[in-house]
Amino acid sequence: MSSVSVFGAQWGDEGKGKIIDGLARDADVIVRYQGGANAGHTVIVGGAKYVLHLIPSGILHPGKVNVIGNGLAVDPLKFIEEVEGLRARGVKVDGSNLRLSSAAHVIFEHHKRIDLASERWRGVGRIGTTGRGIGPCYADKAARTGLRVADLLEPERCRRRLAAALAEKNALLEQVHGEQPLSLEEQLARYMHLGEVLRPFVGDTGAEVREAYRRGKQILFEGAQGALLDIDHGSYPYVTSSNTGSDGIAAGAGFPARWLDRVVGIAKAYCTRVGEGPFPSEDHGADGVKIREAGNEYGATTGRPRRCGWFDVLAMRYSLELNGADGWIMTNLDVLDSFEEIKVATAYEVGGRVHREWPGAHVDLADVQVHMESARGWKTDITGVRRYEDLPMLTRKYVEWVEKLVGVPIVMLSVGPDRDQIIPREGLKGALAHA
Ligand code: IMP
Repeated sequence: MSSVSVFGAQWGDEGKGKIIDGLARDADVIVRYQGGANAGHTVIVGGAKYVLHLIPSGILHPGKVNVIGNGLAVDPLKFIEEVEGLRARGVKVDGSNLRLSSAAHVIFEHHKRIDLASERWRGVGRIGTTGRGIGPCYADKAARTGLRVADLLEPERCRRRLAAALAEKNALLEQVHGEQPLSLEEQLARYMHLGEVLRPFVGDTGAEVREAYRRGKQILFEGAQGALLDIDHGSYPYVTSSNTGSDGIAAGAGFPARWLDRVVGIAKAYCTRVGEGPFPSEDHGADGVKIREAGNEYGATTGRPRRCGWFDVLAMRYSLELNGADGWIMTNLDVLDSFEEIKVATAYEVGGRVHREWPGAHVDLADVQVHMESARGWKTDITGVRRYEDLPMLTRKYVEWVEKLVGVPIVMLSVGPDRDQIIPREGLKGALAHA
């Protein structure tokens, strides 16, 4: 029996979908434990592209159980849209291979409206959210005014709780944001109908996952977003509203922290960020544009162009330590194929002081000057390489240099979007041996 956590170690979009899809082959249960349809996990199978927002990336493998845990903010409309989209493409999805926690919080229409309206209200201080209602839904969870999936299945409870919630939300929508109020009866009818569609998938997923683990099944936890977007440990307030690393698993999946056997981070060979907020190693010049075009760095959920920059050693060391990673996977290495010079952020300077480790919350990341070091590019197409020793010498030099700077072993490299564009590292398979 074993359990593996795979999480994004940067600002999201590290290529988790493809890696999880690959590891899912050897797993029995694939679990999401935080976030919602703000995520966009892209998986390419035999040239066909699937973008998953809410459903775990293991769904494309027959015979696996995919779990949406209690820690998610679930938009029932998105859930159903995704289930139907997969079914239309011949993927089997039903209550036996997709499970939804009865304790997951529900994203309602008012959450999405408030998400967009609050962003307008914030003006220049906006976060650049995905507009999917994530923040307002988690805010209600913390305020204890949210509704959970179980509530949608109980008409009386649903009416009582939604009426109480909407009274306050309508006042906010009308009086603060100048919007039309929502009709309780319309919302009730819509969401109770959606609840009936969800019913066959719903269960006590925490108990189901623990039972599977006790019975010797392999459990794979799929993080969404990235460690630097973590509500507690990320670049607050420019973060998402959940615990995005393995720090979120115990609470968001009902799986004891002590039962976690392996932790693996995922990071690109460079860095991107979508939305607002500090990004110390961002490249505002031609190289940033070149990375965006070579890596097709446009959001899978919103289509927004991603901000691009260089690999950040401080950020990476911090994310991996924070989440207790045994190893990490470097993705999109091929995107750097055409660069003459490849930069890496190795220190920050602020107020005359040089930081070699990620600074605490007292330092505003927007104020730091970044010290960059560089490596020579390999100027060779590596997308067809499958063995580490077949990579150009300069590529290996770059990988090993970054690995040494970070201080945590790289267990795998990814050199293209397809399932098989993977290079395992010799001697380091241990960190994934039980995946
Ligand atoms: P929210 O999660 O929609 O509230 O957005 C908060 C911040 O997280 C924004 O900067 C988003 O762009 C970012 N974000 C949310 N989900 C993802 C993701 O899956 N990948 C990358 N960034 C994300």
